[in-house]
Amino acid sequence: MKVLVTGGCGFIGSNFVRFALESRPAWRVVNYDLLTYAGNLENLAGVAEGGRYRFVRGDIVDKAAVKQVMEAERPEAVINFAAESHVDRSIKEPERFVQTNSVGAQVMLSLAREYGVRRFLQVSTDEVYGALGATGKFTEQTPLAPNSPYAASKAAADLLCRAACHTFKQDVVITRCSNNYGPYQFPEKLIPLMISNALEDKPLPVYGDGKQVRDWLHVWDHCDAIAAALERGKAGEVYNIGGNNEWENLDLVKLLLKHLGKPESLIKYVADRPGHDRRYAIDQTKIARELGWQPRYTFEAGLGETIAWYQANRPWWERIKSGEYRKYYAEQYSSVAKQG
Ligand code: NAD
Ligand code: DAU
Repeated sequence: MKVLVTGGCGFIGSNFVRFALESRPAWRVVNYDLLTYAGNLENLAGVAEGGRYRFVRGDIVDKAAVKQVMEAERPEAVINFAAESHVDRSIKEPERFVQTNSVGAQVMLSLAREYGVRRFLQVSTDEVYGALGATGKFTEQTPLAPNSPYAASKAAADLLCRAACHTFKQDVVITRCSNNYGPYQFPEKLIPLMISNALEDKPLPVYGDGKQVRDWLHVWDHCDAIAAALERGKAGEVYNIGGNNEWENLDLVKLLLKHLGKPESLIKYVADRPGHDRRYAIDQTKIARELGWQPRYTFEAGLGETIAWYQANRPWWERIKSGEYRKYYAEQYSSVAKQG
């Protein structure tokens, strides 16, 4: 089977390319990625081009370019990972998120249909459901109530997928996952930011009171769930994916510091994220029951491996942190520090 993966140079996409090449010997993978600030060819170092893997640089919003890759590759399945993925950036620049996450998803859907792609899998997020109070979990029936421009742009894509199923009988499956962690995650996200700052003895910026809750899943388990949904999911269905692993941000940051042997005095409370969702938690009963998927990583093992990866791959994140990302970091954290 030939699978066109978009966004395969990002965090989850690059892990998925490796996962697919290792676990699905009959697949050929085409990776279509624009290489934005978050796309990094180094994430796929050691993955040989030719044979079962090919990289094509391009934009999912650019209809002519997507047409070209569809024409040349004729994939049987499309998995749409490509997105602007960082909530803080969506607060500063919502238009870009609508373009990539909503318009781009529609372009991919339309051309997948035009080229007779058998199945389209949209990689969505639990953030489309909004926020939870102290109890309860998101199920696939929870109404969509996105709170950030990022979440709203992803919810729009989910609705466009739903409409494509309904109107054109297109075979589309949507997955909605909780927070991922693991190797190759861009150091703007909580876990790699905190690990890398701690390794550099820099302050660890915790938003607000640090009592927000996230449900963490190892990226490899997410990849496994996506493959299961692609292969065995039902057309038109949504599958929630989660780690059953809720952590308050502050407790998680303290745990990371403990692992790294660094003092809690590195923690710095800064102004809260505007509209910050208090708690996410996923009910994954459906994917467990219908597709037999379960996470394999314990948090202890996954986090230990992840910390070891960032320790061993310091040049990878140092190159990112010393490049263009420096400007974003200076702007983001000087503004939140001032407000706090
Ligand atoms: P990421 O920011 O690390 O990577 C995004 C990738 O998409 C990059 O390689 C980038 O170059 C590419 N890209 C961006 N705009 C593009 C465009 N217009 N055309 C082609 N490629 C483009 O993101 P991630 O964390 O790996 O997330 C991947 C997907 O998973 C996203 O759709 C995100 O919404 C979803 N998701 C992420 C998480 C998480 O915890 N990171 C959880 C649930 C769902
Ligand atoms: O839930 C799935 C989502 O998880 C994905 O759809 C998004 O693409 C992904 O970025 C992630 O969103 P979050 O906003 O939850 O992730 P982030 O790593 O940015 O933040 C995790 C928590 O940590 C959140 O409550 C905000 C907090 N935080 C984050 C940063 C960057 C801080 O306290 N300080 C920080 O500096």
